[in-house]
Amino acid sequence: MAKKPLIVGNWKMYLASAEEAKKFASGLRRKLPLYKNIDVSIAPPFTLLSATVAAFKNSAVKVGAQSVSQFLDEKRTGEVSAAMAKASGATFAIVGHSERRAMGETNAVVRAQLMRALEENLSIILCIGETERDHAGAYLSVVTEQLSSALDKLPIIKTGKLVIAYEPVWAIGKSADDAMKGPDLREMSIFIKKTLTEYMERSAALKVPILYGGAVEASNARTLLQEGDVQGLLVGHASAQLDSFIEILKSVSHK
Ligand code: 13P
Repeated sequence: MAKKPLIVGNWKMYLASAEEAKKFASGLRRKLPLYKNIDVSIAPPFTLLSATVAAFKNSAVKVGAQSVSQFLDEKRTGEVSAAMAKASGATFAIVGHSERRAMGETNAVVRAQLMRALEENLSIILCIGETERDHAGAYLSVVTEQLSSALDKLPIIKTGKLVIAYEPVWAIGKSADDAMKGPDLREMSIFIKKTLTEYMERSAALKVPILYGGAVEASNARTLLQEGDVQGLLVGHASAQLDSFIEILKSVSHK
């Protein structure tokens, strides 16, 4: 298992008010001393970014945005730029989440978002993953295509600024029994690392943390990390309640 796994909570639209975010943060902060061997990050919705950043101030928890706009110009009603996310205190941005891809964000859009985030010096969690598994292995080319369009000839990928989140779409939102199994995840993790070497030096590629996301709960978190050869987890529904998120941290930190 990774020395210091990274556990990221993606709150999606689960939490609505600053009060909920503050309550979650103060509860989590009380428990953090028990989990010094884990890196924890939270991605609240845009409306709760500032409040969540404030609530985790002076703690080890990093707070980031769930997406950023691909655009730079201001005439984009409803969009949130990387600069705006950064000004709200975000230190990282998730790009390419499948729930956004399903709303029409193409590989080209994801690439542009990644560029915008890099320009603001945000760290990036690039989400990739196939919608379905086929026996002929077409899912591998889906993943290759997502990686190559995001990373090919990227001017700078500063080591430490990029995290890949592999989230098979068919597992997202399900319960732990439906998550990917360890050996399949391991195969994918190796495949992703190998693919990354095409876009950066081998030594840099090997340092890029790979997260797994899709139906991570306390009951499968540890096994996925151990058997799947991934460096962390991207947690959706189970990160939306303090208790279930702490249960995940507990299971991962268990010696
Ligand atoms: P669930 O953990 O709810 O399956 O969501 C996974 C996810 O999409 C995290 O980004």
